[in-house]
Amino acid sequence: MVFGAILAGGIGSRMGNVDKPKQFLEINKKPILIHTLEKFYLDDAFEKVIILCPGEWVDYTKELVEKHIGKQEKVVVIEGGSTRNETIMNSIAYIEENYELTDDDIIVTHDSVRPFITDRIIKENIEAAKEYGACDTVFGATDTIVVSEDNKIISDIPDRTKMYQGQTPQSFKIKKLKELYNGLTEEEKAILTDAAKIFVIKGLPVSLVEGEETNIKVTYQYDLRVAEALIHEDSEVS
Ligand code: CTP
Repeated sequence: MVFGAILAGGIGSRMGNVDKPKQFLEINKKPILIHTLEKFYLDDAFEKVIILCPGEWVDYTKELVEKHIGKQEKVVVIEGGSTRNETIMNSIAYIEENYELTDDDIIVTHDSVRPFITDRIIKENIEAAKEYGACDTVFGATDTIVVSEDNKIISDIPDRTKMYQGQTPQSFKIKKLKELYNGLTEEEKAILTDAAKIFVIKGLPVSLVEGEETNIKVTYQYDLRVAEALIHEDSEVS
């Protein structure tokens, strides 16, 4: 089985002074979260799509889903966690409560605020997670990446052809991810904000799936304007 987890448990502090978490802000008159959900629930590969949001926004999110896509057996809204990884773990707890899992069952975890995910990226994530156990969606770095150990002086300028920007989805074999996460100390959990890194530090392969330049994450006000422009471009093409 393949499950989708749409991570909407954050509060979007970098978005500044807005009345709701950024995943609920609208682009082209529709909440960002709904744009993202549409890409997932229409995909037959998913057994269930789990949306995870802050506890106080669960009822609101359920209403949004019903308003925009109707009552959907395939979609469930539950509470996220205090960190992004804890949000992922909440989705796994839900899956374990409701399904009998095998070693090969997969979760595709995606930022709710990346509404421009494509069908190809989802398909390749599922294939790569099945084959390697874990995968990360990345996009080749366009700028030169500079490393500074002390945030003052350059320590290194790595070869750009080996540098990538991490996007999402990140997809995993569910049982393996849970086993690795549960094996971490509290300190490690605090440092490992990226789920793919949990596999990397244990020496397990995380395969690369090619992302898209347009698979942006809405973080700042500026990104909202970019997203608005992109969505109109999209509707002109289709
Ligand atoms: N996220 C989550 N659970 C958390 C924290 C973040 O599901 N406890 C989700 C966010 O809702 C978002 C994605 O992870 O869809 C990427 O995180 P980020 O862009 O950092 O979102 P926020 O934490 O909401 O933003 P900020 O850091 O500006 O507060």
